Amino acid sequence: MAKLTILEFPDPRLRTKAAPVEAVDDQLRTLIDDMFETMYAAPGIGLAATQVDVHKRFLVTDVSSDKSDPHVLINPVIIEKDGIAVTEEGCLSVPGYYEEVERADHIRVRFLDRNGDEVEMEAEGLLAVCIQHEMDHLEGKLFVDYLSEAKRSRIRKRLERDRRHQAANVA
Ligand code: NI
Repeated sequence: MAKLTILEFPDPRLRTKAAPVEAVDDQLRTLIDDMFETMYAAPGIGLAATQVDVHKRFLVTDVSSDKSDPHVLINPVIIEKDGIAVTEEGCLSVPGYYEEVERADHIRVRFLDRNGDEVEMEAEGLLAVCIQHEMDHLEGKLFVDYLSEAKRSRIRKRLERDRRHQAANVA
């Protein structure tokens, strides 16, 4: 397995709309395993393929604290949603920033699992929020898009400044 590089805001590649997965094969399963490893190492509770510069519609999640609830969702579609959850969200592509975002509290989602079989799953609370957040990534959307322009631009400037400082420290 290999750890993958996570793209960070405002990298324009994060704005790519992902294409459907055509075949659930061993190549895809290897990539899925690498994404789990990358997510757990970060550490994070969700990772979309877009974030590792793979522009296909799949994502991984595990909202447990002991790696006991892994899910991979390939070509996910939300078929029902209701309720409102306001959650302080973060994102591995926007490191260090947490802001409240409003989403559905309960969803029913249809997807292919790692064997290519069609599955329907109900999710609520944190898992539902996480899946909606990761599905946004597949559309090229980030949680900072729900914030005001002023707030988003402040986060972008700080991240760019931090990255310049990191580059300077390495040099
Ligand atoms: Ni994210």
